[in-house]
Amino acid sequence: MKSSLLQMLRTKENEFISGEKLSEKLGCSRTAVWKHIDALRKEGYNVEAAPKKGYRLSDEPDTLSKHQLESRLKDETFITAVHHYPSIHSTQETAHQLASENAPEGTLILADEQTKGKGRLGRQWHSPRETGIWMSLILRPDIEVKRAPQLTLLTAVAVVRGIKNAVGIDPEIKWPNDVLFEGKKVAGILTEMQAEPDKVHAIIVGLGLNVNQSQFPAPLDTIATSLRIESGKSVNRTDVLSSILIEWDWLYRTFLKEGFAAVKPLWEAHALTMGKRITARTPKETLTGIATGIDDSGVLLLRQDDGTLRHIYSADIEC
Ligand code: BTN
Repeated sequence: MKSSLLQMLRTKENEFISGEKLSEKLGCSRTAVWKHIDALRKEGYNVEAAPKKGYRLSDEPDTLSKHQLESRLKDETFITAVHHYPSIHSTQETAHQLASENAPEGTLILADEQTKGKGRLGRQWHSPRETGIWMSLILRPDIEVKRAPQLTLLTAVAVVRGIKNAVGIDPEIKWPNDVLFEGKKVAGILTEMQAEPDKVHAIIVGLGLNVNQSQFPAPLDTIATSLRIESGKSVNRTDVLSSILIEWDWLYRTFLKEGFAAVKPLWEAHALTMGKRITARTPKETLTGIATGIDDSGVLLLRQDDGTLRHIYSADIEC
């Protein structure tokens, strides 16, 4: 009910809508409408009321909440449930827990703050309160275990396209999981799996996106950036997140139907490393050469100076 009310108030941007019309459309009494408006105000929404005119939504809080998001997505995506926490250790940890309790595909875990956010390779992920999107998504695709890393690349495409649509700025992807503006990281993706050797039970895709930080503590200040720093304005987190989820949804459906080959050209269109000289630190060795692209399974291709083509499955990349 609250999300339908919000949706109606939003469709009349800057205009009043009468209590009578709201109660008619929502199929409830005017007293019930008033109670929901009161609840929205307590959550930080500024809903003006004027005699004979009705209600008008003039400001929204920048909180990430279940009904805010649902009212934006309008059943158009694969999101089946939203769990929102003001503060949590790690959305990734909670997603693992929910996945092992059989949470369905499309379960989204969001937090306004993470106190033990984790990155790749055991690193920490700085996740201060209400400044970013800290989320994990449970997926249950019927794919081979070895294809799971392709979902990292797919998510990166959803992130850059979602940012472009919502904020109008164009980040780049650094293989496999970084989203950057001129070498500074704005987002990172962490893909983990619950699987048997030949069966994927769940894939947990974690996304950390710096949105409204105006500065970062050292030593992050030299390597991290935010959408606010890059665009010069504060950015509504729900707008960016819904825009990313809409992109993610169709990319994921395409991936399930047509395979990674259909997503690959989109990844390449935003890839920073394509055709550049890079250093790849793999768990076993350090390699340098030209990143010529990715193959149809998402593996990075590196042409070494002696002409040998190497396939990189996991590495830290410097370019
Ligand atoms: C990386 O670049 O190292 C990946 C960072 C992933 C961070 C996100 S924030 C939401 C989710 N919960 C976590 O604890 N980590 C991921």
